[in-house]
Amino acid sequence: MLIKIKKSSDIPSSEITPESVYYSRRDFMRGVGGIAIGSAAGGLISQAALAEGDKTAAELNLASKPAWLAQKISQRKPVPASGPFVTVDAKTPYSDVATYNNFYEFGTDKADPSNRAKHFAVDPWSVEVAGECNKPGKYTLEDILKPHTLEERVYRLRCVEAWSMVIPWVGFSLGDLLKRFEPSANAKFVEFQTLLDPKQFPEQSSRFATIHWPYVEGLRMDEAMHPLAIMAVGLYGDAMPAQNGAPIRLVVPWKYGFKSIKSIVRIKFRSDMPTNTWKDLQPSEYGFYANVNPAVNHPRWSQATERRLPASLFMPQRVETRPFNGYADEVESLYTGMDLRRNY
Ligand code: MTE
Repeated sequence: MLIKIKKSSDIPSSEITPESVYYSRRDFMRGVGGIAIGSAAGGLISQAALAEGDKTAAELNLASKPAWLAQKISQRKPVPASGPFVTVDAKTPYSDVATYNNFYEFGTDKADPSNRAKHFAVDPWSVEVAGECNKPGKYTLEDILKPHTLEERVYRLRCVEAWSMVIPWVGFSLGDLLKRFEPSANAKFVEFQTLLDPKQFPEQSSRFATIHWPYVEGLRMDEAMHPLAIMAVGLYGDAMPAQNGAPIRLVVPWKYGFKSIKSIVRIKFRSDMPTNTWKDLQPSEYGFYANVNPAVNHPRWSQATERRLPASLFMPQRVETRPFNGYADEVESLYTGMDLRRNY
């Protein structure tokens, strides 16, 4: 995702994380079967999710969570046996989901978020609701979650960098949340904003950061109301690790991962289309819609195929990318009549 001032000697941004190093470490460490974990999170992560030799859940920074949230997560509805909320694809092990991250506030390397998010504070947390709605205000995380039953959803996550994962999220319908704030007829779009806190996010005070903080994202209202779009507060049956966007993030599975903004502190209903961080940085490369589309390549990454993580040099796990990340039956009708080559 990195935008850099171009020099002919520049290595492609996809190689900034030395993936060969990552792969060989993973190959070396990955074994069969799980190990028992003694985790600060209460051992809720399934043992099979951690491969032998991997770090424990505690080392992987499971975010600290208040007791009420732990209880709420434990009462979540299981994923349905079939339908779009689940996939037959194998789940990506927890240890990959929590160590191979894009969270630029912590750094640009895939390992930076899990290494640097150890003390990220998520309690107390509140979300400001603003703009075109009848119920603006500041809501605590508990207020936000109170009326919602949490559910498990197993979704594919497809990054524009052409890697993908399959993640069992714990969350609830974004549409159900937004309805509670009674958006007005003028609310055509909804904007989301990540926490701005340079004390916690080292890159927000870096002189070399290219992103204009805070990270922002947006959806059209009908996209936001779609049943596949969720607010997630956990994964693998436990609280969200800080590096994955604790305590609350968006998950929009038919769009490239950059739409799924992390650590949200503000939701604003708008009559006009908001900007989004990557489009703001490089509009020729990243758009507002960002629907997964194998027919439209990014200048640096072909979008025809993806590496399903965990992959290795010897097991590249290349799979064909599907339109809308395989969710076309559910969401294609949102874009009837739109030229998706122009609206990338
Ligand atoms: N949200 C914020 N605030 N900052 C980011 O850098 N990266 C995005 C998205 N949300 C990002 C973010 C990108 S590019 C991707 S692919 C996903 O988060 C990655 O989510 P994951 O690390 O949980 O896999």
